[in-house]
Amino acid sequence: MEEKQLPAAKKVSWVKKAGYILLGALVIIQFFQPGKNNQSLDMANDISKVVTVPEDVHNILKTSCYDCHSNNTQYPWYANIQPVGWWLKDHIDEGKGHLNFQDFALVEPSERFPTKALRQDHKLEEVYETVEEGEMPLKSYTIIHGDAKLTDLQKKSILEWVKAARKELAERDSAAVTAFLSSH
Ligand code: HEC
Repeated sequence: MEEKQLPAAKKVSWVKKAGYILLGALVIIQFFQPGKNNQSLDMANDISKVVTVPEDVHNILKTSCYDCHSNNTQYPWYANIQPVGWWLKDHIDEGKGHLNFQDFALVEPSERFPTKALRQDHKLEEVYETVEEGEMPLKSYTIIHGDAKLTDLQKKSILEWVKAARKELAERDSAAVTAFLSSH
């Protein structure tokens, strides 16, 4: 009889052990906090310094896009809990890599877009596309940040602003004019 009970007791202790190991791992990874997106409020190179950004549009962008596309993420408390913080960092690094509204004046020409204005214009074109198609802001973000979800009216404001902003850039750079015309 006693022998029969032994395996069951062993099983419980294994589950317990695994639980302790998992708990230990969770505690240990808390010591590996990722660096925070640098929390800069410096607006010297912000997109609003490059093209006209009406205040209401700027506010929409700040609420719905800047957490991942600027140098100043407003972190939720659970960003301090790993592995959530690592996951957020991944999104922010990737989002910022594609587009940084707060560094928009620093956009460099590339092979494909040989002037600053052309490259900025291309980024604006992408803003238009991602907003129009509802790809941005990311769904995983709006599930938690309900206020970042774009209403139809907000979408319309962004799209109209992008058109005006691209026109503004086009007037400044004749190469961009060609790009602008060929994409319309
Ligand atoms: C939760 C983070 C997050 C938020 C909020 C967010 N983005 Fe993004 N964005 C990303 C990531 C990650 C990528 C790169 C991967 C991808 O294209 O899905 C990206 C890529 C982009 C790109 C480049 C697309 C391309 O084809 O290269 C544009 C443009 C963009 N986002 C615009 C916006 C706009 C406009 C908003 C607000 C309305 C916004 N994003 C909100 C994370 C975010």
